[in-house]
This record gives sequence, C-alpha cells and structure tokens, in this order.
Amino acid sequence: MNKSMALIKNKKILLGVTGSIAAYKSAYLVRMLVKAGAEVKVLMTPSAEGFITPLTLATLSKNPVLSTFTKQENGEWNNHVELGLWADLLLIAPLSANTLAKCAHGFCDNLLMATYLSARCPVAFAPAMDLDMYAHPSTQENLKKLKAFGHHIIEPGEGELASGLEGKGRMAEPEDILEEIEILLSNTQALKQKKVLITAGPTQEAIDPVRFISNHSSGKMGYELARVCRNAGAEVHLVSGPVNLRVPKGVHFYGVHAADEMYAKAQAIFSGADVTIFVAAVADYAPKSVSETKIKKKDDELSITLRKNPDIASALGKVKKDGQITVGFALETDNAEMHARKKIESKNLDMIVLNTLQDSGAGFRYDTNKVAIISKVGEKVNFPLKAKSEVAEDIVNAIVKLMDQKV
Ligand code: C5P
Repeated sequence: MNKSMALIKNKKILLGVTGSIAAYKSAYLVRMLVKAGAEVKVLMTPSAEGFITPLTLATLSKNPVLSTFTKQENGEWNNHVELGLWADLLLIAPLSANTLAKCAHGFCDNLLMATYLSARCPVAFAPAMDLDMYAHPSTQENLKKLKAFGHHIIEPGEGELASGLEGKGRMAEPEDILEEIEILLSNTQALKQKKVLITAGPTQEAIDPVRFISNHSSGKMGYELARVCRNAGAEVHLVSGPVNLRVPKGVHFYGVHAADEMYAKAQAIFSGADVTIFVAAVADYAPKSVSETKIKKKDDELSITLRKNPDIASALGKVKKDGQITVGFALETDNAEMHARKKIESKNLDMIVLNTLQDSGAGFRYDTNKVAIISKVGEKVNFPLKAKSEVAEDIVNAIVKLMDQKV
C-alpha cells in the first residue's frame, strides 16, 4: 500500500459500483480508500449485486451499502441529493457500458443515477467492459460526452479480459485508480508550469556481466518527491536507478543503471529544469574496467580497482544558471550538520536535506524519515519522524517558499 495518500485522507468518497465482472476489484478499492483515510459510502446498481455482495462492501467501507431509493423495512428513503452534496468525489468503478450510456444521456432509473445527476463534486469513472463493447462507436461517443461534461475518465488497461479475449477494456487496477484520484483531488498548483528534475534510487556499477556494486537506497524518498511535485502541477522528470517501486503516473521516467548513465540523462534535462532535486544515492566509485566475461573464482583474494564517478550534483551545480534551484540530500554518520553545510557550498545547492542513520525508522528502506532542511543562507528547520510522503511535502513546501523569495 502506497503511503502517499495524504490527499485522500478525510475525503468523503462515494463509490458507485455497477454490473461488471470487475466489481470484484471494488472490494480491494474500498479497502485501499479506507486505509488511505477516506470516508467511503458505496452505492450499487441493482445488477452490481449479482457480481459482489453488499455485505462485502458494507463491511469494508464500514458504512451500509445503498442501492434503492427507499429502505423496504421502514419506508425511510435514501436522499440522493444529500448524498451528492456529502461527497468530495463521486467515483464510479467499475463503470459498465449501460451506466455509461445512462450518465451520458441523463437517465435516472436508480439511486446511483439520481445521485450522479445531483452531485456537485468532481466525478471520476473507471470503465470496465469487453474490448468490442469498449471500442464500439457508441461507447466512445458516450465517453467523449462525459469528458465534455468535465468528468474524469480513468482509462481501462489492456490485457486478458474476463471473456478470454485480449484487448483494451479491463478496469484500471485499484492502485492506479487511487493515484488518479489523488491527482484529481490535489488543489495546490504551486509548481504549475515548472519543470522538476529528480534523480533517485541507487546506481549499479558493473564489475562483470553478472555482478555490480550498489547500495541500499530504496528510491522511496525520490519517488514520493516525484509524486508530490506532480500533484503540485509540475512537469516531473524522474531519472532513477533500479528500484522496486511503481513509477508515479504522469511522470516522465528514465530508468538507468550506472552513475555515468544517470549523469548523462540528468545533464540532458538539467538546463530546462526550474528545480532539480538530487536524491539518488550515486555510487562514489565504479570498477575501472568491466570484465567482459564472468570473473572466475581463483585466488584467495581479488582486487578490483575503482575509479571515481562523476558527482552529478556538483557537476550540474557548476553550470547552474540564475533562477534554477537545486536541492541535495546528505546522509551523514558524524558531524552531520557541518558536512551538510559544506555540501551546500561544494555542490552549489540552494538547500540540503539532512538525514542521519542514527534515528530509528529513518533512512534507507524505511517508509519513514526524519530530516532537517538547511538552506543556503544558513537557516535550519528540524522535522519530526514522518512518513516519507509527508517529508516530501515538507521539502516541496520549502522549495516553493524559496521560489517565492527569489521572485
Ligand atoms: O557527497 P555526497 O554523496 O554525500 O552528496 C550527496 C548529494 O549529492 C545527494 O544529493 C546526491 O544525490 C548527490 N550526489 C550526486 N552524484 C554523486 C554523489 C552524490 O549527485 N556522485
């Protein structure tokens, strides 16, 4: 579960579930939304109940599932207008071809439709249908209509469909839906029209065709920064060493291995970047020569001669122009602050984020981090241990503040 769901926390989300086999994914979607801190109410169309039980969705959402205008037992009615006003977001996932057509034409024959027509909040749809149904001109026209209404369509994926056919039509995965909602709900545009370059992850320096030198960097901090910058409206370019993370949606991604490769990619993007954040744990040294064949086990000792890698932050700091902001990271084990301040000078940074390995829960691999942000003018702000997603927000806020001071 991705922890960068700050935007979803405390949001009121109405989830409409319609009659599609992809309704089984709604259970996981509800669980993820609730875990991210949202208050979720589920609305089902009558045919959705044939695919997943209200009991499942009521249990996971911690709220009764609504599907009819009135409660048969006591005649009480479910007020669609109130529901529509309650929600911060109406998400219809899965969206069947039938409900799509109804939304496009304003039909109002069930509680979900009445709520859709009453809702004032943003509306997002995650279509799910067989490839031919999806490709049908009628479906495509209806989708165009929803877009023209200002609604957000979460594109279906391609792959094997429940029918056994292969093609476009499978509902986006819950993780992707969550990320799209996050973008939709983000209301800060503090980095609009800004280009942000981020280096992230470790580098891998080849010894021979099967071995390399690397480090424990997980890339989490860099990927969270990419996500937060994207949410703030930036055009994000993420140059990353090999990590085991999902690339945030909407981010320009460049996968690299060695420091030389990372440097070349970053250098190509740098001159156009308004902000560059060097988060990558770049290997300081790489084998001087890479063996073309696998090194054989022979003597008791083996020496590998290393050569210095380019310092990407320093090198780009030298060609940095007025108005460009660069931010570095420092992971120190001793005299942390003094070393961090020196790095601001040597790498020509505007700001450095200091994290130590001494604090439990901070640093490599963890989802949390404890940092201090030191600026070029010498200010130091200490932050408590937080989720890396929140640390990323603190860093981006500090960058935005700095940009405001520069104008
Ligand atoms: O000198 P040190 O490795 O401690 O500096 C850390 C900072 O410099 C980080 O921001 C890191 O991304 C960047 N760096 C770099 N290229 C290197 C080494 C570090 O960009 N070869």
